[in-house]
Amino acid sequence: MDHFQLRNGVLHAEDVDLEALAARVGTPFYCYSSATIERHFRVVQEALSGLGDPLIAYAVKANPNLSVIRTLARLGAGADTVSIGEIERALAAGVPPERIVFSGVGKTRDEMAAALLKGIRQFNIESEEEAVELSAVAAGLGRTARVAFRVNPDVDAGTHAKISTGKAENKFGIPIGRAPAAYAQAQTLPGLDPVGIAVHIGSQLGSLAPLEAAFERVGALIAELRAAGHRVEIADLGGGLGIPYDPAQPLPPSPADYGAMVKRVTAGWDVRLIFEPGRLIVGNAGILVTRVIRTKRGGATEFVIVDAAMNDLLRPSLYDAWHDIRAVRPRAETTTATVVGPVCETGDTFATRRTVDAVEAGDLVAFMTAGAYGATMASTYNSRPLVAEVMVHGADWAEVRPRETLEDLIGRDRIAPWL
Ligand code: LLP
Repeated sequence: MDHFQLRNGVLHAEDVDLEALAARVGTPFYCYSSATIERHFRVVQEALSGLGDPLIAYAVKANPNLSVIRTLARLGAGADTVSIGEIERALAAGVPPERIVFSGVGKTRDEMAAALLKGIRQFNIESEEEAVELSAVAAGLGRTARVAFRVNPDVDAGTHAKISTGKAENKFGIPIGRAPAAYAQAQTLPGLDPVGIAVHIGSQLGSLAPLEAAFERVGALIAELRAAGHRVEIADLGGGLGIPYDPAQPLPPSPADYGAMVKRVTAGWDVRLIFEPGRLIVGNAGILVTRVIRTKRGGATEFVIVDAAMNDLLRPSLYDAWHDIRAVRPRAETTTATVVGPVCETGDTFATRRTVDAVEAGDLVAFMTAGAYGATMASTYNSRPLVAEVMVHGADWAEVRPRETLEDLIGRDRIAPWL
């Protein structure tokens, strides 16, 4: 459920009229609903109640805007981070360091040192090599790093290949068969305190079966580690649960179904669970509002050319992702059109020959379910300034990231001295 609804024929974000908002902030812009973010966090909390006192570490990569993170931090969320930049964002937004997990396959020594000095909760490490390096960095600083080993369970997540992470051929994690040796070795390293196991097999999962298979393997591993005399306090089960994008597709499992499965599989593990949901919390809490520049009759299809492009919302061109497209003031007519942006690539296509609300030049259109992996994956390709991000809260709204200016865009370039 979200808070983007038609009222008097105009799409609203909570109590804010999106036509009026577009007139104030210009287009394109991302619009986030704080009530939806809060609701989703509570739904996740509720689904995971009965699992002890789990840490819900919001995956900052999904939407790192400080206002989004702060909205969640105020509800008790932690943060799953993958760079020092994300750690700084989480801290700036008010997430306490003891709720921050540092994941990622390529942490640099500088990032390790900075994270240690910030006093974050835990590093999820992804190779034996990383363990040795992190130990050296920590020992050099006179600190001990609490580590969980992210294992690669060799499970096919059944999602898009570019966002599957749990197969043996993927770069992520330590092959699960090597985990006992890696854990034992980590015990001997001076700068490490091995506290647990982590797993994350991919994103936008439409079925619980691969998650369950991966968690079963983690459970067996925990038993094996304990039998070998190791202490295992933490199991971090990652994120990845899918959300509905295309109404014609079957619904993904609900958070409650996910919670029930986790409860069944982890019964008797005797660990503190960590979860890293991203998309599930912010995905349908955001939309991208864009204006139709013009329509165009092509040789084979009608085109609707909007002022947002692949640089603003990359998911359709990168993953063939579906985002629902709605007129902000629908006319009760539909048309079949290909919806494209102004960027000079054929891949700059949001929908191909889709039946959408009929629109004309000047109309506003919303790409739905764009709160996760939207603004954060934007670039300035074609020298297009990054768009504004707005958060609404009831009838209130705030620009939580103003649109980049042309000065912002060009001003950091330097003409080389010999030119
Ligand atoms: N934990 C780890 C270690 C991850 O790598 C990710 C996502 C998450 C948690 C959060 O996953 P979520 O709950 O959001 O599925 N750009 C792609 C998605 C990439 C996901 C990367 N890792 C997209 O737009 O679909």
